[in-house]
Amino acid sequence: MNELESLLRKSGYSNKTMDYYIRKVNVGEMNDPSVCFAYTGPCGDTIEIFLKIDSDVIKDAKFQATGCAGAFASGSALTEMIKGKTLEEAEKINEEDVIGHLGGMPTAKIHCVCLARRTLEKTIKRYKGNE
Ligand code: FES
Repeated sequence: MNELESLLRKSGYSNKTMDYYIRKVNVGEMNDPSVCFAYTGPCGDTIEIFLKIDSDVIKDAKFQATGCAGAFASGSALTEMIKGKTLEEAEKINEEDVIGHLGGMPTAKIHCVCLARRTLEKTIKRYKGNE
């Protein structure tokens, strides 16, 4: 285990959270997205989500973040979870689902999951013309 991994482990992050954070899963911009939206949470960190949508199905999802390991892992988890889902199905994914997918999240980092979830909600609203 390298220094970064042991620091993350000490902070209470799960294996999957560490893996997503280290591999930066789905991190990056998307060329010609159907919609993108950036949202800044109360902690001051920002997540921007890019979606490629076809007939109300999310074909691809990426994100960028200025934030902590919790923000990046939550963004990775959420974008993994929504690929192939309809907008309606994606909207139903809540914070507990994301935490379950990650195998847990330190209590102090739950708000980072909320930031990712909120950003997705607003991105879908933007796509529908309501944000
Ligand atoms: Fe701001 Fe984690 S501390 S998203």
